[in-house]
Amino acid sequence: MSGHSIRWPDAPRPFGGVGDREVLVLAFSLDQDAPVQAACAGTLSAEERARAESFHFPAGRAHYTIGRGVTRFVLADLLGVLPGELRFAYGPQGKPELAGGADPAGWHFNLSHSAHLALLAVTRLAPVGVDVEQLRPVSDQGAIARRFFSPAEHAALRALPPADQTAGFFNLWTRKEAWLKATGVGITGGLDQVEVSLALAEPARLLRLFGDVAAAQTWTLTALDPAPGFTGALALPVPHATPRCHRWPGL
Ligand SMILES: CC(C)(COP(=O)(O)OP(=O)(O)OC[C@H]1O[C@@H](n2cnc3c(N)ncnc32)[C@H](O)[C@@H]1OP(=O)(O)O)[C@@H](O)C(=O)NCCC(=O)NCCS
Repeated sequence: MSGHSIRWPDAPRPFGGVGDREVLVLAFSLDQDAPVQAACAGTLSAEERARAESFHFPAGRAHYTIGRGVTRFVLADLLGVLPGELRFAYGPQGKPELAGGADPAGWHFNLSHSAHLALLAVTRLAPVGVDVEQLRPVSDQGAIARRFFSPAEHAALRALPPADQTAGFFNLWTRKEAWLKATGVGITGGLDQVEVSLALAEPARLLRLFGDVAAAQTWTLTALDPAPGFTGALALPVPHATPRCHRWPGL
């Protein structure tokens, strides 16, 4: 509903590259059949396999495996290496980045998942953040909005008709979270430090960073609508970056 101007054609096969000035956003399903699961599992590091095993429910294990596996397949394709050869390093709040010299061209990526849907963003431009959420009722939505949203965001949300409240809430949430994920600080960084637009009929905009309008203008913030019932956002510290969005066939 808010990323309405972006098209999501099926991803080309073979996959092809990502240009120096491009941001690729790939939407894919985390529900995959056993052969795909096995292929993804075969690419994981020992640390990732241990993390996969730590999930209590099989679906959690499978979703984590597919998310990491597809990330590895896409990055390996771009770097010309095998998926299992990639090594990840982790920021202070757990953001995975490419590590270990396999990254001469400075690739950045970020992954997000909600229910069965995942978004993967890949670019050479700058550290990138992506967030997706399934639209769903949130019982303490008012309390979360008061805690994490600025007074202006909270007012914009309250001004929406009841039927648009859930979409408005998750639009705000994903736009702010995408910025946090680009910086790598995660939710501890303070969702109230970044102010984003909510007007449903207009493109998403980052309005203020720590109260600073000029600082916000050095960023791109784009709303994404990868599938019915989901909303998302992409953020990176480069102005006017336009994402190229694709659906992995079968989503
Ligand atoms: C981890 C965090 C960065 C994002 O969490 P999230 O929105 O629940 O999860 P997402 O699916 O969007 O992102 C998780 C992925 O981001 C990456 N990631 C992990 N830590 C990250 C960080 N600090 N910065 C950026 N990306 C990070 C990982 O690839 C991770 O997936 P993987 O472990 O399967 O590879 C953090 O901000 C957090 O804990 N958020 C809580 C969100 C919340 O409470 N939401 C309630 C909505 S009502």
